[in-house]
Amino acid sequence: MRRFLTNTAQSNPRSAIVTGAGRGIGRAIALRLAQDGFDICVNDLDKNVEDVNSVVKEIQLLGRSGVAFCGDVSSMASVEEMIATSVTALGPLNVMVANAGIAQVGWPMDITEANMRKLFEVNVFGVVNSNIAAGQQFIKQGTKGKILNAASGVSFKADALLPMYSASKAAVRSLTQSFATELGRHGITVNGYAPGIVQSAMWKHIDAELGKINGLPQGENFNSFTKNIALRRTSVPEDAAKLVSYLAGPDSDYVTGQTILVDGGLVFS
Ligand SMILES: NC(=O)c1ccc[n+]([C@@H]2O[C@H](COP(=O)([O-])OP(=O)(O)OC[C@H]3O[C@@H](n4cnc5c(N)ncnc54)[C@H](O)[C@@H]3O)[C@@H](O)[C@H]2O)c1
Repeated sequence: MRRFLTNTAQSNPRSAIVTGAGRGIGRAIALRLAQDGFDICVNDLDKNVEDVNSVVKEIQLLGRSGVAFCGDVSSMASVEEMIATSVTALGPLNVMVANAGIAQVGWPMDITEANMRKLFEVNVFGVVNSNIAAGQQFIKQGTKGKILNAASGVSFKADALLPMYSASKAAVRSLTQSFATELGRHGITVNGYAPGIVQSAMWKHIDAELGKINGLPQGENFNSFTKNIALRRTSVPEDAAKLVSYLAGPDSDYVTGQTILVDGGLVFS
């Protein structure tokens, strides 16, 4: 009889790194992958060390191993140190989730050079660093691996005031295809997950900044999307974590180079 290998049915120890996992979508992914049987390296910025340590504790309560690594993904040296820390503590790496990201709100003509550089350093260089360093680690190990990148839905209406953020996430989609093309010969898959309008600290910030421009009270910009979402609800971090669980597991072995929307039907691709 043929059987499907479910995530939880795997007995071999597996490890994953999740960047930007101190809160929000990254935290939900880290906890979901721990439930799936992965040991997890939890990354976030130094200033969020308490959040990182608390996610590590939650992972340990789920019966898995967790290790904290505070560092900035826009630095290649930091990403390499993160992988070394994870491998030393948890063994060979199986999955890299390049989730860390930042958002900026405002008209394209108003963006400063410094803000544009910062956005691309985290959202684009952070992904490039994580993909290259994880790819090198998988090749060195001689194992297949999975790389997942946080993208976003493009061309929905918020793009009007998140244009540079959307540009950085469009780059992530393209980079996902590029890395998938090169790493495929090693059996390494590279995919993107594109959440919709997710309740997180990032959206609180976006909502407040949009409110300064269009005068809507806190929460109203966020809620205004509901009517355009087919499922008529905004998203919670666990929605994205469910897709990442599939993309990190064996059922997605023949999927690569794709960026998959998980937005309740806000954008149709
Ligand atoms: N919230 C949404 O609606 C939404 C929609 C589409 C895509 N996304 C993407 O999903 C990812 C997670 O979003 P979220 O809503 O959980 O955001 P969030 O702001 O709540 O969490 C992001 C985490 O990344 C960390 N981070 C930022 N810069 C970092 C760096 N240089 N190095 C390491 N960590 C860093 C932050 O400290 C934070 O803890 C992001 O890439 C975001 O762009 C979010």
